[in-house]
Amino acid sequence: MSKITRSTLLEKKKQGVPITVLTAYDYTFAKLLSSFGIDVLLVGDSMGMVMYGHRDTLPVTLTEMVEHTEAVRRGAGDAFVVSDMPFLSYQINEEEAVRNAGELLRHGAEAVKLEGGTSICPTIRRMVSAGIPVMGHLGLTPQAIHQLGGYKVQGKSEESAKTLLEDAKALENAGCFSIVLECMPAKLAETITKTIAIPTVGIGAGNACDGQVLVLQDCLGLTTDIHPKFVKNFGNVRVEVEKAVRQYIEEVKTRTFPDAEHSY
Ligand code: KIV
Repeated sequence: MSKITRSTLLEKKKQGVPITVLTAYDYTFAKLLSSFGIDVLLVGDSMGMVMYGHRDTLPVTLTEMVEHTEAVRRGAGDAFVVSDMPFLSYQINEEEAVRNAGELLRHGAEAVKLEGGTSICPTIRRMVSAGIPVMGHLGLTPQAIHQLGGYKVQGKSEESAKTLLEDAKALENAGCFSIVLECMPAKLAETITKTIAIPTVGIGAGNACDGQVLVLQDCLGLTTDIHPKFVKNFGNVRVEVEKAVRQYIEEVKTRTFPDAEHSY
């Protein structure tokens, strides 16, 4: 596989070839996913929940994002690495936003992702003019969870659908190279995808998007806490982990591990 870049993703949209995205938070999984041919590794702030056990993404810090971005970069190979800008790292003022995005790029991200529509466009313009590729994120934006009143499907009314379409056009005009569409009616995501020239990446947004993203632990069947409708477990790694760990405990307790083969 050759190195994935922003242009590769745009070309995939033009050719109608779906873009594959999974989250990654560490070196080991980044290396595995990249070797299996994933296009994009998203160092998502969902890390706050799946790696740190927080209730939502809000406690994630820039320092944590930087550290996990570095780890993912080391294993990413040819995959394109996008890092989430955590809550309040880009909303306070444009200077701080550019500096913080730059920090993620310095530590291995090839692009940053941030949440929001028209109101965040001036910040996106500043980042793009500083040479920082930006991925947008519309629909269910988890950093605004308290404002949205919970993890709910967005864009169900005619008015909110219109706003999301306008937001998508505004993000494209501001210079985003791609947009994540989260938790919205499939028809709306399809309209947005057909309207804008940059690739859309869906999660809970139907199959007309230019690509799909899932949280890795959801994809592998490792998460047990929440199970939104859009999550599909493509494996049951939890069962394999359980089998291996129970076997290990048993063999240690019975002194059958380590045996001669695993001893010096
Ligand atoms: O943080 C994350 O993992 C995300 C994806 C769910 C799109 O933003």
